Amino acid sequence: MARHAEFPYFLTFNTVIAYNAFALHGTPVDLIIMDNQIPLATIQTLARSVFKEAAKYGFSQLDVIRLVNELMDNCTAQEREIAGPIGNHEEPTVMTSGTACLPLSSKRLMIRSFDAESDIALLDTWLSVKYGRHFVLSSTAAQSISIDELVFGERNHLGIITTLEQKPIGALAYLDHDDGQRRAELRKLIGDSEYRGKGFAEEATRLWIAYGLDALKLDKIYVSTLQTNLGNIRLNERIGFQVEGLLRDELLIDGVRHDVLRMGYCRNYPVPT
Ligand SMILES: CC(C)(COP(=O)(O)OP(=O)(O)OC[C@H]1O[C@@H](n2cnc3c(N)ncnc32)[C@H](O)[C@@H]1OP(=O)(O)O)[C@@H](O)C(=O)NCCC(=O)NCCS
Repeated sequence: MARHAEFPYFLTFNTVIAYNAFALHGTPVDLIIMDNQIPLATIQTLARSVFKEAAKYGFSQLDVIRLVNELMDNCTAQEREIAGPIGNHEEPTVMTSGTACLPLSSKRLMIRSFDAESDIALLDTWLSVKYGRHFVLSSTAAQSISIDELVFGERNHLGIITTLEQKPIGALAYLDHDDGQRRAELRKLIGDSEYRGKGFAEEATRLWIAYGLDALKLDKIYVSTLQTNLGNIRLNERIGFQVEGLLRDELLIDGVRHDVLRMGYCRNYPVPT
């Protein structure tokens, strides 16, 4: 698809613009729009994040230009090496029927109800390490709550991700479930490091969303993530979440304020994934 316009006001999700000369001679901007590309909001977020880090480091304008050149060089080198696009793995198979109650199952995993008696110690272990604590730390609904409040809070729903052999590998949650507003904050965690980076989080989250829509009747599911958590942002996007805004200096973690990216998934505005 290709379109032409004077100004890029109509940019939408899954759209990228290639500026073709805002000509030196003052001709209008010529825009080529291509589908299925990274959303502009994500690129802006990433740029802001890199810029913020660079500024902290003391980059001058010239250093920023050198950085952009290095990025382009890396990009060109990668294009030559890569056989397919990043994340071009087999699409996880998820059974979307039968999601009205737990347990849920898909090709490689299951999600069962959280059993406070047997699961609380395991969850505590996962949340105690630096990697896992972002399950609650970057949440806007539950940042400073205790594990008991997390598990027993009336507005929270927790699930445990297991292998098909019933080995627990992670957790999922809907926090601050507002029944009247039909919305909740989704959280995910792969606690067992052996199962990270293998697509289990994506497979489990797709199931959990189906459960949220079918069983909890949610119309709106949102996630909050540190804008530096790029893997998580990319994963959310693949699943169909859209960036809704950047909450500046939203969270205080270990004495440092962090921007939080808010992403949303709406029943009435499904994004093709
Ligand atoms: C966020 C989190 C759950 C993601 O887990 P994960 O294991 O990295 O997620 P996945 O395996 O689904 O996806 C990660 C990568 O594996 C790749 N992958 C997916 N399927 C794959 C497969 N079948 N084989 C190999 N790789 C695969 C994905 O392409 C993805 O690559 P990318 O990083 O280039 O996008 C995990 O980092 C975590 O527990 N973080 C701590 C808690 C947290 O921050 N939670 C977020 C708050 S909501």
